[in-house]
Amino acid sequence: MSDPSHEALRQAQKIEALGRVASGVAHEINTPVQFVRDSVNFAQEAVRDLLDVLRAYESALDLLPPAEAARVRAIAEDADIPYIVENLPLALERGMDGLQRVAEIVRSLKDFAHPDQDERKPVDLNRSIASTLAIARNEYKLVADLVTNFHDLPPVVCFVGELNQAVLNIVVNAAHAIADRVAGTDQRGTIAVTTRIDDQHVVVIIKDTGGGIPESVRARMFEPFFTTKEAGRGTGQGLAIAKMAVCERNKGTLTFETEMGVGTTFVLRIPIDPTAAELAA
Ligand SMILES: Nc1ncnc2c1ncn2[C@@H]1O[C@H](COP(=O)(O)OP(=O)(O)OP(=O)(O)O)[C@@H](O)[C@H]1O
Ligand SMILES: [Mg+2]
Repeated sequence: MSDPSHEALRQAQKIEALGRVASGVAHEINTPVQFVRDSVNFAQEAVRDLLDVLRAYESALDLLPPAEAARVRAIAEDADIPYIVENLPLALERGMDGLQRVAEIVRSLKDFAHPDQDERKPVDLNRSIASTLAIARNEYKLVADLVTNFHDLPPVVCFVGELNQAVLNIVVNAAHAIADRVAGTDQRGTIAVTTRIDDQHVVVIIKDTGGGIPESVRARMFEPFFTTKEAGRGTGQGLAIAKMAVCERNKGTLTFETEMGVGTTFVLRIPIDPTAAELAA
């Protein structure tokens, strides 16, 4: 049997390595996406110009000898020019929208992964939480709506990669709790994420409308490997890692409130500048 804290550390290291890989991949994707975007952009402008030219040619058709005009009209009809004129610009626009979304996902991934952080840095926590929620979207989108209420925050001096990981783990749990609750119905739940300042701390509140946490489970939530989920869906490390990330690494606190049949709320409290707090202490 391996020692649970050793195992948690090993897991955290694995996640860090994964973050590095993700960040590298995001960076690699960025370059081709950029030139595909440039190409589509060029195509959009070129199509606009070509369509103008086409219209001019069309109006000049009558100047051709009737046999020639008929031949050109037959070709145009074959190609279904009105359909192309209507749909080509739309297709390019959709392509551009899609690329825009890929670019956003890549940016989120880069923000989220933040590799190689061995010291605390000031960050825009609202932005990094927004990126983390974008990464987590796939986990909750089928069962829950996301509501965010971000208040202005000063730069927070923290190990942001680990806070991102904590937020991700808590949001995935929220999504699972809601999925269990709404299973077999056509209902959806809500995950509400709020940030605000409280004196020298930033507070991040993640509230779900899942089924709540049974009394018997509450005391063991943060234990490494404690899970109520079937194998493959959970390994019981999410909250142990979140606790370590928030409390040990970022000198904050991680607490929760829960009510059966109503939902669960996790609260992260993080010092805005733990180095200043340490100096003052
Ligand atoms: N928002 C929540 N609502 C209801 N129960 C929860 C919630 N968050 C956590 N739990 C309970 O706490 C347990 C431990 O959570 P934790 O995130 O540590 O592990 P896991 O989700 O089971 O697995 P992993 O996160 O490693 O995939 C869960 O199995 C679940 O029973
Ligand atoms: Mg979990």
